[in-house]
Amino acid sequence: MRAVRYHEHGDADVLQVDDVERPTPDRDEILVEIRAASVNRVDVLFRAGQYGDLPLPTIPGGDGAGFVEEVGADVEEFEPGDRVFLSGMDRADGGTFAEYAAVPAEKVAHLPGDVSWTVGAAIGNVGATAWTALEELAGIQAGDRVLIHGGSGGVGHLAVQIAAHSGAEVIATAGTDAARDRLRDLGATTVLDYDSDALADEILTATDGAGVDTVLDHRLEEYLSLDLEVVAEGGQIISTMGHIPETNGRPFYNKEVSIRPLKMDNHPVRRPVLDRLARLLRQDALTAVVAETYSFDTAARAHQEILAGGYVGKLVVTP
Ligand SMILES: NC(=O)c1ccc[n+]([C@@H]2O[C@H](COP(=O)([O-])OP(=O)(O)OC[C@H]3O[C@@H](n4cnc5c(N)ncnc54)[C@H](OP(=O)(O)O)[C@@H]3O)[C@@H](O)[C@H]2O)c1
Repeated sequence: MRAVRYHEHGDADVLQVDDVERPTPDRDEILVEIRAASVNRVDVLFRAGQYGDLPLPTIPGGDGAGFVEEVGADVEEFEPGDRVFLSGMDRADGGTFAEYAAVPAEKVAHLPGDVSWTVGAAIGNVGATAWTALEELAGIQAGDRVLIHGGSGGVGHLAVQIAAHSGAEVIATAGTDAARDRLRDLGATTVLDYDSDALADEILTATDGAGVDTVLDHRLEEYLSLDLEVVAEGGQIISTMGHIPETNGRPFYNKEVSIRPLKMDNHPVRRPVLDRLARLLRQDALTAVVAETYSFDTAARAHQEILAGGYVGKLVVTP
């Protein structure tokens, strides 16, 4: 089969297309014929040698969508020909930038029939992240005020939709007018420029001075003090980044604010979350914006573009 691989760590141009052996599924795995896979920031970090320690050569890609080709002996929930999407591939065993991937069944769910491969692939990891952050960790409720930094990103644009569907009032930030317009269409009540010098005041104005109940933050080193300014008493900050900047703790104490880091590696079982996302897809309450689709041969460009940013949603690679 054809697969994108890198044989050494480095810039995007270490990605190349190789002919490799098709994987064989273990008893608890499914062999998926991959029709689309998405680009996630962590893929770039793995490739650059800045995160994790994967055996080389490595096939990138942690999520995707396609047909079930074969099921392992212990797998009962799927059969060949099923349309599926997946999230949270263990990259040590090979990723999804390949014509086939052997995936633990607990990371796979049925993809509704009218959802495209590219949308299914785009939702996998970022959808699971947004859902886990807002529904499982934050437990957002109808009427809550939720601030989503970087709402145009992969995680952000799904978080906007998930929070809006829960009945929350969504305040999202983005860097361009076009992105802000798109976020309004996706359900944000208030959209703000992340570059604004008056961002904290604008968030407080949007909440009539009350502040937000939940913040979803992916750049804590930049936003922690703003978060503490705009979060309401008893509010919470969910952070998708590993580093928590030093503070003297006083602002947390004064407002009884909690901070909750999220590391998706600690949530390896993805099917229940993917099933919830599939339900929203069927209800037309959720979609993924696919900003651009690349081929295996141009996967390196996708790895460059995710760092450049400036688009809404996700970049996807197809065989
Ligand atoms: N902890 C975990 O398990 C976990 C899981 C998933 C993701 N993550 C992390 O979460 C972060 C977001 O992931 P993602 O997949 O959504 O990445 P992404 O698709 O690349 O989105 C990043 C977003 O951040 C925006 N941004 C850039 N500068 C900003 C600023 N100054 N203020 C606010 N937003 C800004 C970008 O906007 P522009 O396009 O305008 O630049 C873009 O929309 C990444 O760091 C990722 O590694 C962690």
